[in-house]
Amino acid sequence: MTIMSPPRQRPTSRRPTWIIVAISLVSVTLLGAYVYPSRRNPDCYFFASSVCSPFKYWLPVVPLRELTDDEIASHVVIREILTMPSVPSKNAKIAFLFLTLGSLPFERLWEKFFLGHEDFFSIYVHASREKPVHVSPLFVGRDIRSEKVTWGKISMVDAEKRLLANALQDSDNQHFVLLSDSCIPLHNFNYVYDYLMGTNISFIDCFLDPGPHGNGRYSRQMLPEIAEVDFRKGAQWFSVKRQHALLILADSLYYTKFKLYCKAGMERRNCYADEHYLPTLFHMVDPTGIANWSVTHVDWSEGKWHPKAYRAKDVTYELLKNITSIDESFHVTSNKKKVVMQAPCLWNGMKRPCYLFARKFYPEALDNLMYLFSNYTAI
Ligand SMILES: *[C@@H]1O[C@H](CO)[C@@H](O)[C@H](O)[C@H]1NC(C)=O
Ligand SMILES: *[C@@H]1O[C@H](CO)[C@@H](O)[C@H](O)[C@H]1NC(C)=O
Ligand SMILES: *[C@@H]1O[C@H](CO)[C@@H](O)[C@H](O)[C@H]1NC(C)=O
Ligand SMILES: *[C@@H]1O[C@H](CO)[C@@H](O)[C@H](O)[C@H]1NC(C)=O
Repeated sequence: MTIMSPPRQRPTSRRPTWIIVAISLVSVTLLGAYVYPSRRNPDCYFFASSVCSPFKYWLPVVPLRELTDDEIASHVVIREILTMPSVPSKNAKIAFLFLTLGSLPFERLWEKFFLGHEDFFSIYVHASREKPVHVSPLFVGRDIRSEKVTWGKISMVDAEKRLLANALQDSDNQHFVLLSDSCIPLHNFNYVYDYLMGTNISFIDCFLDPGPHGNGRYSRQMLPEIAEVDFRKGAQWFSVKRQHALLILADSLYYTKFKLYCKAGMERRNCYADEHYLPTLFHMVDPTGIANWSVTHVDWSEGKWHPKAYRAKDVTYELLKNITSIDESFHVTSNKKKVVMQAPCLWNGMKRPCYLFARKFYPEALDNLMYLFSNYTAI
């Protein structure tokens, strides 16, 4: 605090006390303003109270600043969406959004999962490489207009938004699950439906990784709207409630920041928007509205560039039971310390298994999965 540097003055014993009193008063006022930022700060209306904790301003990374026009507009729209009462639907459905290259290798397994629940789900397929050949009537006619998707590019986020926009057209869709062509269901339909519909939170993976694959990908060009302290990481496979799906489509301010400044090979960093945009956005605008883990399991424990992919011989009752019994979420930082962060998966405050779906399975695993499905999904 530069204000604290004492005024230059000749050494004198007749220093008037009022100067000392005045300086002390000014210092106390400034300190107070720092520790207790004004409640009129627009950020404090918009963001959850944790963000407005005085300590965030104790060592400000970004100085308190005037918001830009775009931020004011964006904040008011997002706040309005977040405080909107949800319109109850008489026939609430879950939208299953399949982000694939072409045909779905596990379509027959999904059909087994869906059959008998026709009124409670809708399917949307975004095939980015070739037109899928459907083997199940449930999937016929469910392809949406798609565009090419390049791994690690913003086109991945665009495809997710395209799926959400199509699915939001049906007002019965209340929850939106993003799945890939290598995903499988881990439970029966009723279990999944009750799990997702029985809570008010979205399952978006989100954690702070100070290492090179986390904050190492942050670019200061995202300032002033996105500070490094707010940058987060998480797996792409989300499951969101309707309000959050709408929020994702309404946001253009933060989306544009990621589109421009989170790219592969940018400033010698490889930033992947699909791993950072939604975790960062929701961490900033509705941190308590997300679970911080994804309901889609993936095994990174081998520490390779790609997660473990299961072959036919790996698919056993034991493996599936192992995955469905996990009830703690798990994150590891990418710095040298490799800090492991584990947290219980809390569903409405109760500890429950974390996962409803799993990846990555090779197409050859289909027969084993079909054979075991009714056994491993029986509760
Ligand atoms: C979800 O929120 C609504 C209103 O905000 C509330 O009435 C309802 O009880 C909540 N449901 C759960 C499962 O927490
Ligand atoms: C997710 O993490 C945030 C902190 O980033 C926390 O405020 C929030 O409560 C967590 N969500 C749940 C459901 O615990
Ligand atoms: C299942 O979990 C047990 C205990 O952690 C482990 O010993 C076993 O190897 C696992 N089996 C499979 C197939 O993953
Ligand atoms: C499922 O299969 C396992 C192993 O084959 C068997 O031990 C178990 O009894 C079966 N469970 C049910 C519910 O059929």
